[in-house]
Amino acid sequence: MEKFVVTGGKPLFGEVNISGAKNAAVAIIPAVILCDEPCQIDNIPNISDVTLISKILQQMGATVRRINKSSLYIDPTRIRTCSAVTDLVRGMRASYYLLGALIGRYGNAKVALPGGCNFGIRPIDQHLKGFEALGAQTRLVDGAIIEAQCGEDGLEGTHIYLDVVSVGATMNIMLAASRAKGLTVIENAAKEPHIVDLANFLNSMGADVRGAGTDVIKIRGVSYMHGITYSIIPDQIEAGTYMCAAAATRGCITIKNITPKHLESISAKFREMGVKITEYDEAITFDATVKPLKRCNIKTMPHPGFPTDCQPQFTALLMSVPGTSIVNENVWDNRFQYISELIRMGAHISVEGRLAIIEGGTPLTAAPVKATDLRAGAAMIIAALQIKGTTEISSIQFIERGYEDVVEKFRSLGADIKKVYFTGDNEQGITA
Ligand code: EPZ
Repeated sequence: MEKFVVTGGKPLFGEVNISGAKNAAVAIIPAVILCDEPCQIDNIPNISDVTLISKILQQMGATVRRINKSSLYIDPTRIRTCSAVTDLVRGMRASYYLLGALIGRYGNAKVALPGGCNFGIRPIDQHLKGFEALGAQTRLVDGAIIEAQCGEDGLEGTHIYLDVVSVGATMNIMLAASRAKGLTVIENAAKEPHIVDLANFLNSMGADVRGAGTDVIKIRGVSYMHGITYSIIPDQIEAGTYMCAAAATRGCITIKNITPKHLESISAKFREMGVKITEYDEAITFDATVKPLKRCNIKTMPHPGFPTDCQPQFTALLMSVPGTSIVNENVWDNRFQYISELIRMGAHISVEGRLAIIEGGTPLTAAPVKATDLRAGAAMIIAALQIKGTTEISSIQFIERGYEDVVEKFRSLGADIKKVYFTGDNEQGITA
């Protein structure tokens, strides 16, 4: 079993480079299925979710080759099946993007889906509503596989009003509609930076997608898409995670390879707390040494609101700030499971429905904790960095799904963190 072992109590100082955005990469890689030629994707994060989606495409017949640490060559022209029902597919939530890409390109798809996850049920009714509106028949097989099939005339553009603002449904419908006949209009669309990135990627291949980044997206289907080289946007959530860690340790760091505009809602909260942030074209300096930090409240919202994917990390930071702070999780029904782990470290946090009430500034002590999901795992690191003792974090595979070189990056900021391989209670050796 691998764990992270963190000895905290030291402020973070130095520079960190942000990788490409995970949630853009896991959509753009399957989006290559829509293309009639090979593509090269740059600024790909080197994370296990990317390895997984690459293997899934390979299982389907595509050639996927890593050119270097952050670039992939993908040739979709030899895909020989529209069926993706292996355990690899089941193990990855974002495999739902295979549905939109496959029905867009081939008119049919059979894709296994994972069940609920540890922050509640994750429905895809809006994705399916979109595919049906475009003319596909969808059906759930054995409770775990979605089959989608369109008639002889293929998909046809239409108006789709999303009942909830959904990142996944917006992107999946964009994928399917980009090769449908005529015009599709998605209303009440999500506006996250990765939606704009997917639209830019599709347009570079010859698609006609307009309005991404607003709540009305218009897609005019095209019949051919050509190969391109495309670079994915930086990961705003990874950047937000390092901001939370620097604030929690009262450090001062420079965060490079980012788009400061994508971080506005996060930066605004930190400024409200007293952090000094200086923005450059593709970097920020983040200085939490200037004044004592003030408590604050956050409410997660779809973009441009405060991102839910930074909520656990921010909660971990707020444990270090004296006073009562309130976190309102407004996107997911149940994204507070990790709080019981923080309580093991001595945190004073109570949960009432969608609210977490944090009494910050109380003493924390090291305890064995586990990463209950990706962002929860990041929150455990941020909590551990505040504690002078040594914290062991287990289930780190969740963290490695979405954070590239997390140990190396934290170490470059002066953190005492290592990855250790354990069997039972015995430490076996350091693996990173
Ligand atoms: C994406 O999930 C991200 N995942 C999540 O990031 C992120 O938390 C979420 O967007 C919100 O920003 C990927 O991009 C792979 P949604 P997604 O559809 O697309 C409801 C992380 O940590 N809903 O925007 O699945 C849903 O229940 C991960 O990086 C429906 O009701 O999220 C939720 O309450 C975790 N019906 C809300 O909408 C649907 O058909 C937003 O979900 C779809 C969603």
